[in-house]
Amino acid sequence: MNPTLAQAYSPDAFRQMGHALIDQLADQLEATLSRQTGQAIPYHDPDTAFAHWQADSQQPLLDDPMPLFADIIARSTRLHHPRYMGHQVSPVAPAAALGGLLTEFLNNGSAVYEMGMAGNAIERIVIEHTARHIGYVPTDAATPAEQPGGIITSGGTLGNLTALLTARARLPQDVWHEGNGSQKLAIMVSAEAHYCIDRAARIMGLGEMGILKIPTDEQFKLRTDLLEATYLNARAAGLTVFAIVGSGCTTSTGSHDDLTAIGAFARQHNLWFHVDAAHGGGAFFSPTYRHLLAGSEQADSVVIDYHKMLMVPALATVVVYKRAADSHRTFQQRAQYLWDNHTTGAADWYNTGKRTFECTKFMAAVKVYTLMRLYGDELFRANVDTLYGLGHTFARLVRQRLTFDLPGEPECNLVCFRYVGAARFSDEQLNNLNQQLRTDSLNDGRFYIVQTTLRHQTYLRVSLMNPFTTETDLTELLDWLEQRADALLAQTDPLPNQP
Ligand SMILES: Cc1ncc(COP(=O)(O)O)c(C=O)c1O
Repeated sequence: MNPTLAQAYSPDAFRQMGHALIDQLADQLEATLSRQTGQAIPYHDPDTAFAHWQADSQQPLLDDPMPLFADIIARSTRLHHPRYMGHQVSPVAPAAALGGLLTEFLNNGSAVYEMGMAGNAIERIVIEHTARHIGYVPTDAATPAEQPGGIITSGGTLGNLTALLTARARLPQDVWHEGNGSQKLAIMVSAEAHYCIDRAARIMGLGEMGILKIPTDEQFKLRTDLLEATYLNARAAGLTVFAIVGSGCTTSTGSHDDLTAIGAFARQHNLWFHVDAAHGGGAFFSPTYRHLLAGSEQADSVVIDYHKMLMVPALATVVVYKRAADSHRTFQQRAQYLWDNHTTGAADWYNTGKRTFECTKFMAAVKVYTLMRLYGDELFRANVDTLYGLGHTFARLVRQRLTFDLPGEPECNLVCFRYVGAARFSDEQLNNLNQQLRTDSLNDGRFYIVQTTLRHQTYLRVSLMNPFTTETDLTELLDWLEQRADALLAQTDPLPNQP
């Protein structure tokens, strides 16, 4: 046996390293949750980070990976820190991470049934459970093809693309085999939808013309009063509209489209109705907030990221279809070496690779299922209620200060706000100021927040992803921003007061 190979597979070394790593991660969890670790992000600029790792890569080989792991931890963003309020990624529930370690070790690439026997069956259970929460109620009378079904895939971006490909497969023209031909296809979507919908449409060859972006109202929700005219104009211009996407919710402001109205419009024109609930889908588990997603039960497909609101490590996206049979139409390739082609259609639920982009596919369902089996839906409900509640608390704190502007009452845990100061400043001055506040907060590292642009104005933005964040954390964030803004404004001349 080659000694390096023997060492790489040594059970004793694995046991020792594994125990040490879990100890290290548990210490890190304790230190971040308790705020002992001061910074939510130990920010380094990209060149500094690259130089560090380049120097590291030139060091002699390690006997023990622990110093390397410790260094990676020290130089990474701390999602478990209660002052992590940055992007929409979960501070992972530790048991789900253990599920991840397990599945990465087993490496049952589950596209083919026998390469993922546990994973494929568990995936079906996770999908059917999620479908019930969406409100896709299987009836006794329905055939298997009419029951809800779906797949797990690698991220909301791929999930949305997959659902739109399924929508296109329903067209009379067989685009899969014959291409678009002279047909000009189009989808309808809010101008505030996540950019991955635009990207999906372009990947599908729809081009700029084929993405009908509907303007939004003052709450950044799709203007349903414009749907009919947009559709008729598109038809008159020779476009075949085949799908409409509702956001539950949008990424920048967390706004929920009126999914009931969009669903009714889709039915009226026989369009595929897709709901992008990548972020907001967690609310299906919350009796308090599920009303935000009302109308989703009418959708043909819904995407939910379990790695956003539901504490599972990335990536774990469910694409749930109202009718399982639709999922089998997305990709129509034959791969003789992978599947015996005797079983086809909805009966063949267990070869999930037939219905996903991935060929080798990791067992993401196990991570979700681990949480389901340990804590039931209560964990998901508690997380969503806590985080959405924090969003409302933060909005109240912002409103109490005249120095900040809030573009509207938030509907969930995504809140945009903007420092406006007590004196009058130009839009450009305020944009620069808010950008500088975001940069300064990044360099300081005690709070991790992000920024966005709403109607040409720069806003600060928090995604309250950590259930350990408290009202005190939020108050101290606003205090910090105010103090920093005062220091910056001391060097800026306000506009003269209006007569
Ligand atoms: C509404 C929405 N859709 C899609 C995505 C993309 O999901 P992913 O990052 O899992 O690809 C996001 C990500 O923030 C999102 O907020």
